[in-house]
Amino acid sequence: MNERMILSIGLISGTGNLGPGLARRWAMAGYRVIIGSRSLEKAQRVADELNAELEMESIVGMENADAARSADICVLTVKSTAHAASVEGIKHEVKDKIVIDATSRVDFRDPKPPSSPSAPEIAREMIGDGARVVAAFQTIPAHALNENPHTSLDLDVLIAADDEADMEEVAKLVAAAGLNPYFVGGLEKAIVLEGMTALAISMNKHYQSREGTFRVEGIQN
Ligand SMILES: NC(=O)c1ccc[n+]([C@@H]2O[C@H](COP(=O)([O-])OP(=O)(O)OC[C@H]3O[C@@H](n4cnc5c(N)ncnc54)[C@H](OP(=O)(O)O)[C@@H]3O)[C@@H](O)[C@H]2O)c1
Repeated sequence: MNERMILSIGLISGTGNLGPGLARRWAMAGYRVIIGSRSLEKAQRVADELNAELEMESIVGMENADAARSADICVLTVKSTAHAASVEGIKHEVKDKIVIDATSRVDFRDPKPPSSPSAPEIAREMIGDGARVVAAFQTIPAHALNENPHTSLDLDVLIAADDEADMEEVAKLVAAAGLNPYFVGGLEKAIVLEGMTALAISMNKHYQSREGTFRVEGIQN
């Protein structure tokens, strides 16, 4: 599976704030993008809207389990309070596939770092044998991704993964989306990424921004 080229990306619950921002960028980079949802109708509506906006036809909508089954790689962009339910719904479809988990269990109204284990570690445990979960995008504000989808953004995406080859695959997708990938260590670091989201939300609230994030300095990647 590691050798297989990634051609299609399934955004599980990709109908919210984060999913469409990533979908636009990967569709523009030539990937077959599948928007997943609990509702086929909603998935197709969001896919149609994105196709119309980008003047393409390649983005499709499916129910989450079908999206997970059809895609070479999945990205979990579900509302954090529904993370476990969402993983439960796709866990049989994603064995031996990379699952990028973007979840941060941080409440915007009262941003506090969540307790261990992290959401990506919970996903790995739930998927069980064959799980290949990678944590990424926790610190990237969805709003920033929606800025001009045709250009690269100087945003640093922190990636936590246990398997180096899987991390490299995710780093390629991050770069294809016009963002800068940085490996931060094994999946045990995902709890730190969730905690950083609490910092980012607090800062954005304090400074009245919607796009504040963290920048890596002193490393050439
Ligand atoms: N927003 C950001 O700036 C940002 C940045 C980095 C990481 N994240 C993380 O990315 C994930 C997605 O964030 P988001 O802001 O895009 O989330 P969101 O818009 O609140 O929700 C995403 C999707 O989750 C599904 N959903 C909502 N309630 C559900 C429920 N009760 N049960 C099952 N599915 C439900 C919906 O899809 P359907 O109705 O189509 O099923 C919804 O469109 C979160 O875990 C968040 O922590 C967000």
